[in-house]
Amino acid sequence: MKPIVSKDSVVYFGQECYTALNSYLEKANHSKICILVDSNTHEHCLSLLLSNIEKEYDIEVIEIESGEIHKNIETCSGIWNALSELGIDRKGLMINLGGGVITDLGGFVACTYKRGINYINIPTSLLAMVDASVGGKTGVDLGNLKNMVGVISESEMVLVDTKYLNTLPVDQMCSGFAEMLKHGLIQDRPYWEKLSDLSKLELEDLDQMIYESVMIKNKIVFEDPTEQNIRKYLNFGHTLGHAIESFYLTHPDKSTLLHGEAIAIGMIMEAFISAELLSLSQEDLHEISEVILATFPKIDIDPGERQKIMELLIHDKKNEKGTILFVLLKTIGEAKYNCIVPDELILKSFEYYDML
Ligand code: GLY
Repeated sequence: MKPIVSKDSVVYFGQECYTALNSYLEKANHSKICILVDSNTHEHCLSLLLSNIEKEYDIEVIEIESGEIHKNIETCSGIWNALSELGIDRKGLMINLGGGVITDLGGFVACTYKRGINYINIPTSLLAMVDASVGGKTGVDLGNLKNMVGVISESEMVLVDTKYLNTLPVDQMCSGFAEMLKHGLIQDRPYWEKLSDLSKLELEDLDQMIYESVMIKNKIVFEDPTEQNIRKYLNFGHTLGHAIESFYLTHPDKSTLLHGEAIAIGMIMEAFISAELLSLSQEDLHEISEVILATFPKIDIDPGERQKIMELLIHDKKNEKGTILFVLLKTIGEAKYNCIVPDELILKSFEYYDML
C-alpha cells in the first residue's frame, strides 16, 4: 500500500512502516527515544515494535494507566516529569504506541515538552488508526469535557500496522468502526455502502478499508489542517456524541460509553436533524439508523438526562459566539458545517433515537 502523504507527515502501512521507521531513526540521530505505552500496549504491542527496530538505540519506556479517565493534565505532568528525570533533551523522540488516548495525550506531551520534541504515532486501535493518530490533533480532557486543551501539530510519521489489532477487544474494534462509517457519511457514499454491508465484509478487507478511511481523512486535513472550514465535517456525530460521552464519563452509575459508541448515537441523532433541516431523505435516515444499530448497542437516555446532555453542548469546540454549530448531512456522502439547530429539534432527535 502506497504511503499517504500529508502536509508535514506521512502515513505508512504494513511492513513498510518499519522500513520507514528504521531509515528515519538512522538519519535523525535522536539523543534518546522514549516509547509511551499503557498497560495493554506494554503487554501486547511493545515486543512487536521493538523486534522491528533494527539498530541499538537508547530507548526508555514510559507506561501510563489505560483509559479515557487518565487523559488529563495530571497524567501529562507525570510524563513531563519522567521525561525530565530521564534526561530527554530537545533532540529526543517520543513514540506513542497505543490507542487514541495515547496518541492524543502523547502528542500533546511531545509538542509541549521543552517547547516541542519530535514524535511518531503508532496506533494500536482501529479508532486511532483511522482517526486519532492522523491529522495532528493532540490534547487532553478538562474534567469531563473532551479534548479541551491541546494543539494541532503533526507527528513525524504515522505507522499503521494492523497486526496490532490482533489483541484488540471487539467493542474497541466497533468503536473505531464508527469513525469509518462517519468517513463514508460525510464524503463517500460508495465507501459507506461497502462498510454497511457487513455480511459481505471479510477480515481480509480490513486493511483496504482502513486505507480508504485514512485517504478520506487525509484529503480533508490536507486542505484544512487547522479546522477553519471543511475539517469541521469530521465532527459529524460528535456535537451530540461528545456531550453524551462527557455525560457518561461523569456519572459513575452509568457504564462508560466508548467514544465510538457515543459517536454512533450522535450520528443517528444528527442524521435525524439533517432530515428535518436539510435535504437528507427519509430513506437515507432509515438506512443510517439501521446500519448503525446493527453494530452498536442501543442506550437508554431517559428524559431527565437529555437536558443535562444539552447543557454540555455549550462547550463544543465548533461553537462561535455562544452559538452551537452542527455538522449535518445533505445526503449520504455530502455534509454541511456551521448549521444552527433549534433546541426543540435537538430534543426531538433524542425522541427519534429512543423510538428506534
Ligand atoms: N477527529 C477529528 C479531526 O481530526 O478533525
